[in-house]
Amino acid sequence: MADETTAERPWTPIHGEPYRSVPYRPERVPETESLTHAAELRARMQERRTVRQFAPDPVPAQVVRDAIACAATAPSGAHQQPWTFVLVQDPEVRRLIREAAEHEEQISYDGRLGEEWLAALRPLGTDEVKPHLTDAPALVVVFQQRYWLGEDGTKHKHYYVDESVGIAVGMLLSALHLSGLAALIHTPSPMRFLSQVLGRPENEKAFAVIPVGYPAADCRVPDLVRKSLDQVLVEV
Ligand SMILES: Cc1cc2nc3c(=O)[nH]c(=O)nc-3n(C[C@H](O)[C@H](O)[C@H](O)COP(=O)(O)O)c2cc1C
Repeated sequence: MADETTAERPWTPIHGEPYRSVPYRPERVPETESLTHAAELRARMQERRTVRQFAPDPVPAQVVRDAIACAATAPSGAHQQPWTFVLVQDPEVRRLIREAAEHEEQISYDGRLGEEWLAALRPLGTDEVKPHLTDAPALVVVFQQRYWLGEDGTKHKHYYVDESVGIAVGMLLSALHLSGLAALIHTPSPMRFLSQVLGRPENEKAFAVIPVGYPAADCRVPDLVRKSLDQVLVEV
């Protein structure tokens, strides 16, 4: 029934409102189909790699928007959806982001990270030079909304912001990969410059910069081994 569905209603805050429910009756997927889908998805996800060398070729912006829309379906603490995704294609803005990121990364790699962190990064072959920020045709900069402002200017806390945004970013990376695009989650530290360059409001804190594109023709990735299922799964 049209008036019972939540799908088409524009979003408004539900903070403090009473509980309302709607029926939820997704079609049950037959077991054989479920097994086939799961195995195919597992194989597709095994192919995902973090890419740091991008081709300059443009990507269809709608694919990135659709992936962001997928990410925005993520579960979130108290359904507060504490995320903002900024899609940056403007070359000058990407240049500014690269310049500021490389400034911070230079200090980090020169010692701010400390020897233990630098040792952990060594197998990845990363350094302070970040060509992906300008080579990739699109950047998705993800911000966490630490709180929201009521109409009277009162600050309301958001709950489980790190977890919620982390899940959304995981869904974004999966959606991009399954749509045929490559990505990198890049976390220059500190990331305050992203709020300045992109003019984001005070309640938002940068979470990651995600260059998106196609791998360069000569792209190489670190030779990494993933833990086996046995090593990550405990069944009780
Ligand atoms: C929270 C988080 C932060 C990361 N930050 C960076 C980063 O700043 N720079 C980078 O090159 N890779 C970064 N990565 C990517 C990881 O290095 C990469 O996922 C890992 O080496 C495994 O490689 P794979 O994604 O190809 O499986 C980050 C990943 C995560 C989850």
